[in-house]
Amino acid sequence: MVAEKLPKAVKYEKDELIFLDQTKLPLELIYEKQETLEQVYISIKQLKVRGAPAIGIAGAFGLLISVKNNIDKPLDEFLKNLKSNGEYLISSRPTAVNLSWAVNRMLKVAENAKVVKSKELFQILEQEAINIYNEDKKICHSIGDFGEELIYEGMGILTHCNAGALAVSELGTALAPIYKAMDKGKKFKVYADETRPLLQGARLTSYELFSAGADVTLLCDNMAAYAMSKGLINMVIVGCDRVAANGDTANKIGTMNVAILAKHFNIPFYVACPSSTYDNMTITGKDIVIEERDKKEVTHFSSCQTALENVNVLNPAFDVTPNELITGFITEYGIIKPPFNINLEKILHNKETK
Ligand code: MRU
Repeated sequence: MVAEKLPKAVKYEKDELIFLDQTKLPLELIYEKQETLEQVYISIKQLKVRGAPAIGIAGAFGLLISVKNNIDKPLDEFLKNLKSNGEYLISSRPTAVNLSWAVNRMLKVAENAKVVKSKELFQILEQEAINIYNEDKKICHSIGDFGEELIYEGMGILTHCNAGALAVSELGTALAPIYKAMDKGKKFKVYADETRPLLQGARLTSYELFSAGADVTLLCDNMAAYAMSKGLINMVIVGCDRVAANGDTANKIGTMNVAILAKHFNIPFYVACPSSTYDNMTITGKDIVIEERDKKEVTHFSSCQTALENVNVLNPAFDVTPNELITGFITEYGIIKPPFNINLEKILHNKETK
């Protein structure tokens, strides 16, 4: 099984929360124990842990460890800290809905728990964070099973950014169908966009696909049109950070470019979407808050300066692909086709409320 060969982004073992520091990949494999609220906040902000489902899981466990020294305090004080710690963690990254979804789910469980002692509540919250992790695993496997049916022998699949094992609990969302198809013995090629400015495609996607034994080819973002024009790409699969009620989808900056190209070349463009990424409170893509990041990420290539320090820079971390460019959403409930404003709600209705 390919899943066994893949790296784990988040681990919770013997009461310890551990993140794989993804900023060091692929050259160093460093696991970092997370001990405080501030440390978890910084790990999420600096993208040591990243990818929408993974930051949800990190937020749930991060919230838990942020109150582990409060278990002897009165319950109302414990709850007050929990709430303000949750709000702080949510503020670390605004675009992916999974972070607020997971933290709010933990807070709701805390509010509804019938307990008298903080210690009892801590145990309930620990179980809830473990549930979020385990549910994510099941969801990724289901996305993989549904998406695998789209993959045929000899095809070429393009992906952008990293929506693989490093972005979730296990397997991935966009990469899950690829791993499932490999398990079935299908032979096909995967093309990974390098994903400037932070190179998630080069550093993470090509690393995890290569480690898993996939036939992966890395290309610069501006080579996608060339690859499509040469007939190398038969399908695009990307992940997502927030899907609005009408199907407009926020994902890593550059995703919209790929979707426009796919439309031009008549190539199906799929979004892998766990139900926790669907946000029916956001009506269209215009309402999605796009994270703006440090200009240094653009003026530098890793630690090497490649542009004048004082030049004006645009650095949005995500863009929104209009729903009309999307062929379908690969979800844990199956593949959702247009009209998205009706079908997303109809099929994802039994998800947790945000
Ligand atoms: O800034 P990042 O690396 O967290 O961005 C990640 C992405 O855009 C992923 O495609 C998305 O979160 C889906 S991960 C399953």
